[in-house]
Amino acid sequence: TAPAAVIVAIDGPAGTGKSSTSKAVAAKLGLGYLDTGAQYRAITWWMLNNGIDVNDATAVADAAAKPAIVSGTDPAAPTITVDGLDAAGPIRTQEVTAAVSAVSAVPEVRSLITDLQRSIATAAPNGIVVEGRDIGSTVLPDADLKVFLTASPEARAARRSGELKGKEAADLAATREALIKRDTADSSRKTSPLAKADDAVEVDTTELTLDQVIECVVTLIEGASAEK
Ligand code: DC
Repeated sequence: TAPAAVIVAIDGPAGTGKSSTSKAVAAKLGLGYLDTGAQYRAITWWMLNNGIDVNDATAVADAAAKPAIVSGTDPAAPTITVDGLDAAGPIRTQEVTAAVSAVSAVPEVRSLITDLQRSIATAAPNGIVVEGRDIGSTVLPDADLKVFLTASPEARAARRSGELKGKEAADLAATREALIKRDTADSSRKTSPLAKADDAVEVDTTELTLDQVIECVVTLIEGASAEK
């Protein structure tokens, strides 16, 4: 019989290397990959395009079910569409980044996106790596492995700034400030905030290279699937 599908939750604040790690690990082990931040960014992009005030929680809640968000789970080429439109580029703009915490704090948004995430994870034939903020704590509490990535604010700002280079030429101080503001909002919201699940393995990536983090998580997954 085929080995049981392994479900992996990877959570943590921005700039800890969640996406790079999750994609690489999924590709290495033949698992699917789901970027849940991209889904919150996609719904935020739709709200902005449709003239909805992202700070009006009632308006956001009323519109939350309108856009059709579809995520492709191939780690080599993850995709995201909104009403059939490719959203991969536009969801990375500063405009969306600045608005996403407000939209993702709305309970109706979280409930819809959480349902979507659960159905994608359940349908993954070989298992899946799901990355986000509340995956281990709320979305997939029965995941086979939960990893919580951390890093110092300086390391996170430097990584994020490196990613943006050329695109929006963000300076380090501004990036650090925006990142801390977003983490504070994501950690202090009422509905499923950024949080480490009690049974998550915490990995501090401050002093580690990306390859070292990948290796560490691969080892953890192999251990978890051997126990299944
Ligand atoms: O991972 P990211 O930076 O692309 O995520 C964008 C935002 O989406 C983040 O600031 C908070 C929200 N988010 C969330 O609330 N829950 C998740 N599971 C993933 C992201």
